Amino acid sequence: MQNFRYFHKCISCGKKFQPDRFLYTCPDCGGLLTVERDEEYVKEKVGEGKKARGYFDNLRFGAARKIYPNDSGVWLWRDLLLPEFPEKSVISLKEGQTDLFEVPKWLKKEIGLENLYIKMEGQSPSESFKDRGMPVAVSDALRLQQDYPELKIKGISCASTGDTSASAAVYSAYVRDRLRCVVMVPHQKISDPQLFQAMAHGAEVKAIKHPDGFDGCMTLIQKFTAKHPELILVNSKNDMRIVGQESIGLEILQDLSWQTPDWISIPVGNAGNLAALLRTLLRAKEFGLIPKLPGIIGAQASSADTLVSWADSGFKKYEPGTYRDTVASAMNINNPVSFPRVKKFCKDFNVKFYRSDEKEILKTWARFMAAGANICPQSAVALNAVIQARENGVIKEKDLVVSVSTASAIKFAESGIKYHKTGSKEDFANPYEVIEGNLKAIEKSFDK
Ligand code: F0G
Repeated sequence: MQNFRYFHKCISCGKKFQPDRFLYTCPDCGGLLTVERDEEYVKEKVGEGKKARGYFDNLRFGAARKIYPNDSGVWLWRDLLLPEFPEKSVISLKEGQTDLFEVPKWLKKEIGLENLYIKMEGQSPSESFKDRGMPVAVSDALRLQQDYPELKIKGISCASTGDTSASAAVYSAYVRDRLRCVVMVPHQKISDPQLFQAMAHGAEVKAIKHPDGFDGCMTLIQKFTAKHPELILVNSKNDMRIVGQESIGLEILQDLSWQTPDWISIPVGNAGNLAALLRTLLRAKEFGLIPKLPGIIGAQASSADTLVSWADSGFKKYEPGTYRDTVASAMNINNPVSFPRVKKFCKDFNVKFYRSDEKEILKTWARFMAAGANICPQSAVALNAVIQARENGVIKEKDLVVSVSTASAIKFAESGIKYHKTGSKEDFANPYEVIEGNLKAIEKSFDK
């Protein structure tokens, strides 16, 4: 029998559960779960402060890099994130270890910031940050299938605005001989490339007609998987997803040679990624990896701004919103599942929330794309929040700022192309010209 060094803990009633069955909520009170670790054991293994920094620098940059699965930006943190998780169940597609893109000087100057970086999470296998949490959730499904055959685990399942489903499809495809994959996406509310990803990687795709979009799918998938325990729910409600995503914050700190940024800006939809970031930064401080906590900027589209409204109420009133379309479709969520986690973890942070309207999202997206950053509209929401925070003086010129880019631009090509064809040059749109096939016509267009 495995000697577990991590367990699930209910954030409402505090009850602890061994990872010997699948739970995505507390069986006693229905509260959300988080993964807790035997911290004494972890400290013994990886050390604290300088020793811990050296431990993980060796795994990423040193001789240990060559040892499987240290070439994964998720699994190299396993001794901190998931101590003693059985290696036989680990699925890795070399996710993570993404670039920290330095915004070019000319754009930094325009914005009035000296140190602005973008964490390029669109560089992972399915081109979004979901490839951080998914390998952990899928590996855990395999672990339960292997070690507890009586559970009769047959596959994984999720609701999605398009990126979770793409990632679930990719990782389950790799072990298709063992896991099937059922995804529910809001009909006609995700982009074609995202839909293509889920189809092409062999998921069973259900496009759900529901007036509440993703939130409607999320309610349905929970009811569906409650009836089908053979399918593991891999939405970020599942705390193993959060565990994998905790590697993003750690990697940002390591990218910066363990310098604490003044601010980290992050787009927020279902709030799983924000919850993971807060949680991992608290632990990074606890382990002496960093001396203080950075400020956090939570960014939402004006069309789906539940958490901004919560912040506007002095963090007192939480009210789910109603469905409205936005170009940042992947974060179009009005009742974020991880809100209770965020509420619990954000207390020690200086947290600010900003909303961006459609015009600002498109403009900021085009502006940073034109500076060489391959980012999605959701990432533009985070960058627009940085611009707003700089303009109102919350962020200072010399502050060290990291903005999380959650996916690649190409997943959202359709809305991007439409913008460039129809938008104005002042708003960074860059339309193409159609020219007759002769040199004279080309010269003529060139002279304009
Ligand atoms: N950015 C992208 C590209 C996303 O796909 C998502 C969420 C977010 C930001 C928001 O992150 O939910 O952790 O707050 N996409 C989910 C999905 C919901 O189904 O793909 P969050």
